[in-house]
Amino acid sequence: MSFEKSILITGGAGFIGSHVVRLFVTQYPQYQTVNLDKLTYAGNLENLKDIDSLPNYVFEHGDIVDEAYIDGLFAKYQFDGVIHLAAESHVDRSITDPMAFVKTNVIGTCNLLNAAKNTWKGNMESKRFYHVSTDEVYGELHDPSEFFVETTSYDPRSPYSASKASSDHFVRAYHNTYGLPVVVSNCSNNYGPNHFPEKLIPLMINNIKNGKPLPVYGKGENVRDWLYVIDHARAIDAIFHNGKNGDTYNIGGNNEWKNLDLVHLLCDLMDQKLGNPQGKSKELITYVTDRAGHDLRYAIDATKLMTELGWNPSVTFEEGLSKTVDWYLNNWDWIENITSGDYQKYYSSMYENKTS
Ligand code: NAD
Ligand code: TYD
Repeated sequence: MSFEKSILITGGAGFIGSHVVRLFVTQYPQYQTVNLDKLTYAGNLENLKDIDSLPNYVFEHGDIVDEAYIDGLFAKYQFDGVIHLAAESHVDRSITDPMAFVKTNVIGTCNLLNAAKNTWKGNMESKRFYHVSTDEVYGELHDPSEFFVETTSYDPRSPYSASKASSDHFVRAYHNTYGLPVVVSNCSNNYGPNHFPEKLIPLMINNIKNGKPLPVYGKGENVRDWLYVIDHARAIDAIFHNGKNGDTYNIGGNNEWKNLDLVHLLCDLMDQKLGNPQGKSKELITYVTDRAGHDLRYAIDATKLMTELGWNPSVTFEEGLSKTVDWYLNNWDWIENITSGDYQKYYSSMYENKTS
């Protein structure tokens, strides 16, 4: 079968990557979409079982830190485009094991940049290297009237955000130095189906369903700006196809929530969907020792993406959160498969003896 383009998506078995792969495989049958994933604890091919037999989809099991393997993959497929999502993505894990973040997020990204540079040398026309990043590289906000814009100075404050900031700098340096056609986006916190249950929203859903304590860090006053994952995938599609070379786009839902307010909302929604008496789940809230270096507030100004590329979120937070809770309740075996193994060890090392 011959295809118009060959696109490499890294980290496609993870949370956001699986939604991006599904969008590309179903909306662009003329592209061959190659999903490269190491299948770490966060990667799960179950996330793609509805599309994995389509003729324009290929899965490659490999590690972006393995330079020779990455060079071989580029030689095999002669990619026209790269959408790079593979990363170690959890702040709490970056506090216990920062080097894993340096390896995958920094060295892995540089391996991909080198392979793209060497493969596209002398023929950069119509090629694109899209680096998917986070708003956490900008640091934290205090003044409620302030938002992250594309020109906000970098001020990463966790090993995770420092590794992502470093990779962002390498991507832009390859554009400036070698003329590599790059785009970068920095997105706020995502939520939705297939989110690994060590992150706030799926962890709370899982614990509410199982009647377990709901661990709120510190006083629950930290603020995050939540975006439905499918809207992130739609933004990536728009930026990959219509973004300007060398440019950065901030992606966010203009949807800020204090952690404690969000946990209350989830408790009410779950009580309603499970047929519990209202207020039952809130009794499970437990305040635990705060995360080290916990960023206070993230908030994105996505005006550039909205005005230049016409993107807008497709769902309100109310709709998105309700769909998300329904997805977990209707796919409970997905969460049970994950939480039956190593997750137990992770959970007890993270949360035992941490009640404040
Ligand atoms: P995730 O942890 O759910 O998935 C990461 C995927 O990358 C997994 O499938 C994992 O197996 C794969 N992977 C990890 N190391 C690898 C390696 N060395 N080689 C190949 N594959 C490897 O992460 P996510 O939440 O889907 O985030 C995806 C990207 O989006 C990341 O780059 C992250 O920084 C960024 N991002 C995430 C959020 C968010 O809220 N989750 C927000 C903004 C940006
Ligand atoms: P998380 O989902 O880990 O995303 P990030 O740290 O990248 O923003 O956490 C979201 C917020 O929720 C963050 O302020 C930390 C907080 N949090 C808790 O209060 N309890 C928890 O058990 C977790 C995982 C997070």
